[in-house]
Amino acid sequence: MSIPIFLLSIPFFSLIAGQPPPSPPPLRGYLINCGSKKDIKQDGITYKRDQGYTSSGKLTTLNRIDILPILTTLRHFPYGPGKHCYEFSVTKGAKFLIRTTYFYGGFDGGTEPPIFDQIIDGTTWSTVNTTEDYKNGLTSYYEIIITANDKTLSVCLACNQHTKSPSSPFISSLEVIDLDSSLYNSTDFGKYGLITVTRTNFGSGDDPFNRYWQPFIDGNPMVEAHANVTSSEFWNRPPAKVFFSGSTTSRGKNLTIHWPPFALPTNRYYVALYFQDNRSTSPYSWRVFTVLIDGETFYQDLNATTKGVTVYGTEWPLSGNTEITLLEPTCRWAPRLTPERYIRSCHLLEQLLAEMVPW
Ligand SMILES: *[C@@H]1O[C@H](CO)[C@@H](O)[C@H](O)[C@H]1NC(C)=O
Ligand SMILES: *[C@@H]1O[C@H](CO)[C@@H](O)[C@H](O)[C@H]1NC(C)=O
Ligand SMILES: *[C@@H]1O[C@H](CO)[C@@H](O)[C@H](O)[C@H]1NC(C)=O
Ligand SMILES: *[C@@H]1O[C@H](CO)[C@@H](O)[C@H](O)[C@H]1NC(C)=O
Ligand SMILES: *[C@@H]1O[C@H](CO)[C@@H](O)[C@H](O)[C@H]1NC(C)=O
Ligand SMILES: *[C@@H]1O[C@H](CO)[C@@H](O)[C@H](O)[C@H]1NC(C)=O
Repeated sequence: MSIPIFLLSIPFFSLIAGQPPPSPPPLRGYLINCGSKKDIKQDGITYKRDQGYTSSGKLTTLNRIDILPILTTLRHFPYGPGKHCYEFSVTKGAKFLIRTTYFYGGFDGGTEPPIFDQIIDGTTWSTVNTTEDYKNGLTSYYEIIITANDKTLSVCLACNQHTKSPSSPFISSLEVIDLDSSLYNSTDFGKYGLITVTRTNFGSGDDPFNRYWQPFIDGNPMVEAHANVTSSEFWNRPPAKVFFSGSTTSRGKNLTIHWPPFALPTNRYYVALYFQDNRSTSPYSWRVFTVLIDGETFYQDLNATTKGVTVYGTEWPLSGNTEITLLEPTCRWAPRLTPERYIRSCHLLEQLLAEMVPW
């Protein structure tokens, strides 16, 4: 796993709760198994060999059986000046999720992965530094959401001042996934790309756009949902499976979550949280609570039902370690509820998934 970081800031934020209704499309775009001579199938998705998308570099196969098939091959590019690109035909103005995946595997006989830049359409996206992940036996991936400036979209690698001679920039897989135009439409992609910091599933995941949702485990109890959501009705269409389970807390307590599980650079972030009542659907299966982020009200009196609800802030200022608190509603709502409903509502779950992308 990897946490790419990017810096840009914009001077306001907005909050919306709701479920606009688009319909789910099939997965479209380019899914590339870099450095391979053949197409492979993984988790029901076909990754094509990269021939025809790039004219530079060399193919290498890692002689290992303990890694995912897609990681066993990679393409590497010679050390030196200049960039090495993959090119894709796209519709100008279309929105894409680009994910690059890197697993070094000592392909060049070394012990430390090379450090280099990744570039989209001529704009430096980020430095690829997989050193820490590789040391911990992890794969690194980077994600960005952009709109295409032209009819061709290029994803390139290039040496930078940190690339040690003679090491070679390399790549294991590359995905350019066509996102529906309504996804992340609160962002002005003419000005910004959204880089994923973390997308967390407080349960399990199966995404219509192949976005990765990392599991998150903390000391809070997990509970299962007893009603299905129609995830195609949600902003940004989280996979329905991520609603199957969630974090909760015991009656009479605030639910406090330290998420994401690492410190963030000071910036404005896109934060989306998803909630659902865990019980079976009934007239009483709802719960009202207030969501705080670092003690500031993120959303007041949110009514979470079994259908689920999203709240998001498009440019929420965050810095360092973040704490999300769902206020135990009895403090605010008890006087207005009958005892019977009070007990019911306190048995509810706040299902929380989260997605977070900085500017
Ligand atoms: C790459 O990452 C390692 C491990 O986190 C860090 O020690 C090193 O300074 C980084 N190098 C660059 C050039 O960012
Ligand atoms: C974003 O997409 C939703 C769902 O299609 C739509 O209701 C909303 O108006 C769009 N917002 C913008 C700013 O385009
Ligand atoms: C929810 O969906 C799953 C899988 O589609 C199905 O097995 C389950 O019965 C559904 N649950 C409810 C409460 O409708
Ligand atoms: C929940 O958090 C609020 C605000 O921080 C605090 O006033 C309240 O005492 C907390 N409730 C419990 C049960 O800890
Ligand atoms: C929460 O939503 C449910 C279902 O729409 C509704 O029956 C209930 O009255 C709402 N609760 C509040 C306090 O608005
Ligand atoms: C819903 O979650 C609560 C905890 O918040 C738990 O006590 C309860 O048993 C769950 N309900 C169902 C139907 O699983």
